[in-house]
Parts: sequence; structure tokens; C-alpha cells
Amino acid sequence: MSEPQYQFYDRKPERGSMRDEVLDGLRSEPKALSPKYFYDAEGSALFEAITELPEYYLTRTELSLFDSQAASIAAAVDEGGCIVEYGSGSNLKIRKLLETTRPAAYVPVDISSEHLQDNARELQRDFPMLAVYPVCADITRPFALPEEVAWLTKIGFFPGSSIGNFDPPGAVQLLETIRSTLGPAQYLLLGVDRKKDPAVLERAYDDAAGVTARFNLNVLRHVNERLDADFQLDQFRHVAQYNADIGAVQMFLESTVAQRVRIGDATIEFARGERVHTENSFKYEPEEFETLAAQAGYASRALWTDPAEYYALFLLQGVASVG
Ligand code: TRP
Repeated sequence: MSEPQYQFYDRKPERGSMRDEVLDGLRSEPKALSPKYFYDAEGSALFEAITELPEYYLTRTELSLFDSQAASIAAAVDEGGCIVEYGSGSNLKIRKLLETTRPAAYVPVDISSEHLQDNARELQRDFPMLAVYPVCADITRPFALPEEVAWLTKIGFFPGSSIGNFDPPGAVQLLETIRSTLGPAQYLLLGVDRKKDPAVLERAYDDAAGVTARFNLNVLRHVNERLDADFQLDQFRHVAQYNADIGAVQMFLESTVAQRVRIGDATIEFARGERVHTENSFKYEPEEFETLAAQAGYASRALWTDPAEYYALFLLQGVASVG
């Protein structure tokens, strides 16, 4: 029997003050709330529900690409390699990859420490031959990988089109950070949602059952709970709009009445119809994304897409010098 290998690394990500961040955002023009406050326990459960909605094709299309391209992906993830997953929300996707690839180690990286450790322990139990080294860190900042994987070939894993939640300059910066963590010559397997009919895009972010609306509005409930605020959720409505000028679906919470909201001892006024911006989801055609990746020192080694051309899975490789 081999020893189960498990070690948790806390890289102690810096956490700003939620109160300052929320008030700064709501005092900006236009108003904004950081998407990082979506993911309390309730928000994480709602997001899981989003991934199963008929209108939200992203998750199921990406999973189908892991299946149909299993042999090619397995060729890149050689035995003895180490998968480093950026922002590992659940074990769903790594489990799918482990059906067809045999890495020696798995390093999930996430800012949410408890969730991260629960998932990592569960995976280690189910895959006893796999060494699992969860790292609690902010993926947008440089952090050190576990020393145990220093000599292994690294395969970065960034699924779910999460790269689209950064604006293009932010995405280039994040890819540069990833490349400097993993090292040149290393691979990055990354999912990107493609541009398509705006109606299809908007439905994916405004489903008939209203789950995405609840997810977006949940950020107000989270603020109420954490900052002693009195947002009334029924006086805001969820808006998702594709902005063709920037190539992104933009999410807002729109105040349906003129109102005043108390946040602790502060007060924020909303005009009727005023919007709070909560998230962007940038969409890329493959050539656009390749150009962006090149700016961060990544060359595209493979590109897989589904028959409807809704989604793209890239195998990128860090190249030595950025041109
Ligand atoms: N990464 C997901 C995406 O852009 C996040 C997401 C899905 C999301 N639905 C949402 C964020 C609704 C805010 C609101 O597809």
C-alpha cells in the first residue's frame, strides 16, 4: 500500500475589508459590487444549480469536450505530471479529467479555505494513488507551489471560462502570473466561451426558472448579513445584457424604485432604474483569445471546440520569451 499523500498549504491571501470595498463600489459612478461576494454558501449552491440549467450550456459543453478529446488531453497530461487547478469550485471537472488521465499530483488553488480542504480530502480518499496538495491563495497574485511538486511537469487547469470574468488587460495579467508560477514549457488547459447569437448568450445569464436572478440578488442578501445592511431584494431586478462593443455579457442589479439603503451606519441612495454592476463575462473568438494569450507568453498548441462552436478548450504552452 502506498501512503496517502495529502498536505494543505495556507499561503495566507490578503483579504481586504468587505465594508470598505462594498461602500467604495456603491459610492462609485456607476455603482458596482465585486463579484467575489457572490460566493457565500448560498451563492455557491445557486451557482451549482446554474451549471445544470438548460440555458447554461457552458459547463455541459466543456465536460463533453473533456470526453471527446480525452486521448489528446491525456497525451498532454503525462503520467507523473501535476495538475494545478485555478479556482477549484467543486470536484466535478477534475473528477472528469481523472477518468482519462493519470497525474501523480493535484494542486487545487482557491481563496475559500474550508471548501477547498473539504473537496481536496474527498478527492484524496477517492483517488488513493493521487497526491493532493491544496493551496489557499488568491489566484490573481503570485504564490509558491508546494515544494513536493517542484520537479513535476505542471499542467495548469483553468476551466469554466472563468478567464472571461476578467477584463482583457486583467486576463493578460492573470495569464502572465500563471505562467510565472507554472514556468515556461508548461501547459495550461483553459476553457473559453465563444461569441455567438446575443440571444443565446443573454438566456444563459437570465434563465426562465430565475436561478441566475436569485444568484445575482443573493449578493445583496450576503451584504445584509455581513454588513448589517437593509437591502430589500424585491426592490431590485436582475439584468443581463450582451454588450457587443466590449464582447461581454454584463450583469447588473437594477433598482426598481427610488430608494435609500442603509449599510451599517452609512446610507446609499438609488434612483429608480439605477444599476449596480456586478459581473462581466467576456466572450472570445478563438483568434482573439490566441492573440490575448500570446501577450502573456502563451502559444496555442491545440484548440478543441464543440459542433455548435459555442465553447473552446485551449491547450496553451508557456513560451520562453514574450514577443
Ligand atoms: N464564470 C461564470 C460565467 O461567466 C460565472 C457566472 C455564471 C455568473 N452565471 C453568472 C456570474 C451570473 C454572475 C451572474 O459564465
